[in-house]
Amino acid sequence: MLWWFIRQLILRTITPSKVVAMRILLTGGAGYIGTHIIVALAANGHQSIVVDDLSNSRHSAIDRVESIISAPVVFHHSDLRDTDRLLKIVEDTHPEAVIHLAGLKAVGQSVAEPALYYDTNINATLSLLKVMEATQIRRLIFSSSATVYGDPETLPLTESSRSGIGISSPYGWTKAMIEQILRDVAHTDPSWQFSLLRYFNPVGAHESGLIGEDPAGIPNNLMPYVAQVAAGRRNRVNVFGDDYDTIDGTGVRDYIHVMDLAQGHLAALNHLSPGVATYNLGTGQGTSVLQLISAFEQACGHPIPYQIAPRRPGDVAAMYCSPAKAGRDLNWQATHTILDACRDSWRWQSTNPDGYPA
Ligand code: NAD
Ligand code: WQD
Repeated sequence: MLWWFIRQLILRTITPSKVVAMRILLTGGAGYIGTHIIVALAANGHQSIVVDDLSNSRHSAIDRVESIISAPVVFHHSDLRDTDRLLKIVEDTHPEAVIHLAGLKAVGQSVAEPALYYDTNINATLSLLKVMEATQIRRLIFSSSATVYGDPETLPLTESSRSGIGISSPYGWTKAMIEQILRDVAHTDPSWQFSLLRYFNPVGAHESGLIGEDPAGIPNNLMPYVAQVAAGRRNRVNVFGDDYDTIDGTGVRDYIHVMDLAQGHLAALNHLSPGVATYNLGTGQGTSVLQLISAFEQACGHPIPYQIAPRRPGDVAAMYCSPAKAGRDLNWQATHTILDACRDSWRWQSTNPDGYPA
């Protein structure tokens, strides 16, 4: 008990007990991760200003967020590449920092339509930087991805592991290129504050079941696909390869609950400082495809049919991180288990079988 009090006292001296409320510009804030970040920001007194072109999301997601946080969300329906419009929004709303999530993210589509991905992801970022430069807002958190590590040489991946080599998709290259652009900008003008957050595999949903991942068409990613099979919307999961050098032959990934990821953004916001800081946001735990299916069966209470299918081109056997740097510098770590994520994903899927209303 005495130790607990001492620990609380120490924590209070190193962690700001009261964080100043801020206005945060959230690009891509109507999407899967953005909606969960709005909830986490609101719980800490921050106000979100969302700019989203709704190319991969629906406005009803924002309505759901408003009902969770019991407050309105400032929303602007706009493409980030419309620089004049973005400038006007920023001049009107005076955000103090930016969380930049907007972009296209479907790996397969990026292979088929590379120019679309380079145009959208890179030019949206350049447009945003121009507006930030013009309005003297110098604090940005960027949604990067574990994909920048390519095929890992050693595991777990740390922030100093090799990156920007052997990336298997134009989508992944846009993330590596944007990281480089931000490093170059900070190098020229050290007053910029950048946090590059390399997400591992975001999964799960807010515990209310009101918001979650709502992929258009056939899901590319494992968790939403499993959820749709569990709900009877698809027949069976195709397990892409069972002959990898992993615990059971299936691919291993570091699945992070989206609310833990959202908390990671708050932590990054509270620790922004001049220059560029890069953090892995993951759990540090690897989970195989079959282990994830088994956890989902536990969450939904019935078997999930699957079949072994050929390996998916471009996939790596295993990918998981060391989140130690974020633990040390940001005082952040994931707290949800894979079972928590499956339960929350199932609550969202089973209560919203067709995703968000149109
Ligand atoms: P999402 O597609 O649900 O959200 C992205 C949002 O950006 C969408 O609402 C979309 O409408 C919007 N958008 C796209 N282009 C835009 C543009 N030109 N102008 C304005 N808005 C635009 O994706 P998400 O899963 O929430 O991912 C958010 C960010 O995190 C993305 O940058 C993604 O690349 C990155 N990321 C995602 C994952 C993942 O597995 N979900 C993993 C690593 C990194
Ligand atoms: C996970 C595992 C598949 C679907 C992708 C992007 C990455 C990041 C996160 C944005 C793998 C297997 C999958 C299925 C399966 N996104 N699988 N059957 O490939 O690790 O990462 O999303 O930045 O950039 O590449 O995630 O969920 O697609 O796959 O067996 O129907 O599940 O082979 O082992 P991935 P995923």
